[in-house]
Amino acid sequence: MASQSNAAPPLLDLTIDNITPNTNRINSQCNDRRLVYLMTRLVTHLHDFARETRLSSEEWMAALNFLVGCGQISNDVRHEFILLSDILGLSLLVDSINHPKPPLSTEGSVLGPFHTHDAPTMPSGGEMSSDPEGEPLLCVCTVKDTHGQPIRDVKIDIWETDSSGHYDVQHAGRDEKGPSERCVMLSDAEGQFWFKGIKPVSYPIPHDGPVGKLLEKLGRHCWRPAHLHFMFEKEGWDHLITALYVRGDKYETSDAVFGVKQSLIVDLDKADKATAEKYGVKEGSWLLKHDFVLVTKQETDDLKDKNALEALEKLGLRMKLVDHLPIPELD
Ligand code: BEZ
Ligand code: FE
Repeated sequence: MASQSNAAPPLLDLTIDNITPNTNRINSQCNDRRLVYLMTRLVTHLHDFARETRLSSEEWMAALNFLVGCGQISNDVRHEFILLSDILGLSLLVDSINHPKPPLSTEGSVLGPFHTHDAPTMPSGGEMSSDPEGEPLLCVCTVKDTHGQPIRDVKIDIWETDSSGHYDVQHAGRDEKGPSERCVMLSDAEGQFWFKGIKPVSYPIPHDGPVGKLLEKLGRHCWRPAHLHFMFEKEGWDHLITALYVRGDKYETSDAVFGVKQSLIVDLDKADKATAEKYGVKEGSWLLKHDFVLVTKQETDDLKDKNALEALEKLGLRMKLVDHLPIPELD
């Protein structure tokens, strides 16, 4: 724990105008300069929000009750705060800041609350869906670097909903039945991996809690366009969390969680005879071919630093970067 200094300012007669600097001062006594910076900016923006909106006591209490409600409905598999971050655009924003993408690399998308750590590892060709109602989809993919060279042994997590638009964890009895519509695979020496899933469907994000009520009040729908999730991990490479969206979905341009990017919209094809024989699927099955492009950790860190320094300079802030994160320049 960071050590604390005893030089706390006297906190007396605080007013609309001096509450902010005083709160920041009392929060600035620890040695963790990143924490001090985060708290100072948070308090400053929160207080400005209250001053600018003339926040009423009723609104303040409603907001607190909203957060209490988010906590009360959350459990191991229901993450209402992630949903809140998603529908406020914060998840997409944080991902974009932390995983900037050079041209031609695969863009990121929202993680969402339904990734799990217990997906079965399968060799290429594995069937990751056991849903008999789903329309079979063969996915044939590669993972390469920005120079077109294949990357082997990348760990790829893949997950999607069943044909009813639910993730396995949203069904009762998941503990006994185990994971479904999800798998983990490794890319081969040519950077290839392929699997059998089902054609994704659009589905509503969980909307029976406080976040759903908020969307309704805002006149927003709660739907996500049809997609498949992918997560790529390999030492030395930037962790990529992304998704592929099926072109033409009704919600393509109004995703409730802002995850869609043009470069992630894909066309589905139908497997011809040769493809069907090669991959052991029925001729005419849905087919998705996609090449993912990863970026090295070094390239990402350099781009992240460059973007951070440019953004901070534009804001007129004197900052230095420590571990790629800004803290105020004191000297
Ligand atoms: C998802 O795509 O799984 C998802 C993302 C954000 C909120 C809810 C679900
Ligand atoms: Fe999803």
